[in-house]
Amino acid sequence: MSDILRYHAEQLYAQELEELKKDDPGKRPQNWLLTPQSVVTYLIGGKLKNGFEVTPKYIGSKRLMEIAVATLATDRALLLYGLPGTAKSWVSEHLAAAISGDSTLIIQGTAGTSEESVRYGWNYARLLAEGPTRNALVETPVMRAMQEGKIARIEELTRIGADVQDTLITILSEKTLPIPELNTEVQATKGFNIIATANNRDKGVNELSSALKRRFNTVILPVPDSMEEEIDIVRRRVESFEKTMELPAEKPAIEEIRRIVTIFRELRNGVTLDGKTKLKSPGGTLSTAEAISVVNNGLTLAAWFGDGTLNAADLAAGIIGAVVKDPVQDKLVWQEYLETVVKTREEWKDVYRACRDLA
Ligand SMILES: Nc1ncnc2c1ncn2[C@@H]1O[C@H](COP(=O)(O)OP(=O)(O)O)[C@@H](O)[C@H]1O
Ligand SMILES: [Mg+2]
Repeated sequence: MSDILRYHAEQLYAQELEELKKDDPGKRPQNWLLTPQSVVTYLIGGKLKNGFEVTPKYIGSKRLMEIAVATLATDRALLLYGLPGTAKSWVSEHLAAAISGDSTLIIQGTAGTSEESVRYGWNYARLLAEGPTRNALVETPVMRAMQEGKIARIEELTRIGADVQDTLITILSEKTLPIPELNTEVQATKGFNIIATANNRDKGVNELSSALKRRFNTVILPVPDSMEEEIDIVRRRVESFEKTMELPAEKPAIEEIRRIVTIFRELRNGVTLDGKTKLKSPGGTLSTAEAISVVNNGLTLAAWFGDGTLNAADLAAGIIGAVVKDPVQDKLVWQEYLETVVKTREEWKDVYRACRDLA
């Protein structure tokens, strides 16, 4: 198995899911693999009765995860909403893995997502040869989830055109998918539900119609509350990246991660951590996910072109790339931050130099 670049959550955490199942005598919604409590334990981590350690996947509010899981046990669907990089897709994948044992029933929402990719399509060769038969019908992930009583995932729901979005209304309210061509329908099996994600920074989004909105419970995923929480997220994700990529590099010092997270939080919040200096914020989102990429990229540079130890020079290009998305406005914001904040920090001389060298 080891040359697969990215495993699905249910593969990667198969053992955890297995242990959770063993330790899970309670009542559960029909066709769920785990009880709602165990799904939450899978998400936020914890120790099982037999001593087995479940690693945290989502770092943040347990209550939010309880609300998300409880929603999926109702007749409403779940909408995970928030800034880019706040773990919406990540949580959606893990929820589907823990509830249905399958996170792969997924539709990527784009401006070009058509009704056929939400409901069902046709294999045209078959359609011409046989006419409209069940064999000629191409099932979508949503249709399969309905039949199998599983969770379907729709990524970036608001990028899908409003007319196509609304095809979900019947599916979510009647729990059925009519197939008029065959004069039949697919009725959803218990356990079926939908997790959609959407972010509020995208341009060209299509707001949900109020009819559709009413079929969703919205859970807003926030940017991490505290510095320590955010450092913890970055550290964990970087460790797993390092393992997958088998990088010949040292584990990054927590101090390097702290510096990246500090820069991101200060610029995001428009004020230094000590609250003394007001800053301009760049146009981009500077999410935790981007902090993770900056460290991952730095680590890769250090591994293949450096001495295997992450240092400021390996990080500089990534930091600037993340902050400066607009070559005019953001550049000024970054210059100002560099000169008024980075330069004045005694222990940050290496960052200052590395960033200046690149400018
Ligand atoms: N609170 C968090 N807990 C755990 N991981 C997080 C958290 N916030 C962000 N991440 C990490 O950020 C990365 C990107 O998240 P993703 O789900 O792709 O974001 P989006 O909200 O844009 O869908 C994931 O690898 C995830 O592990
Ligand atoms: Mg996403």
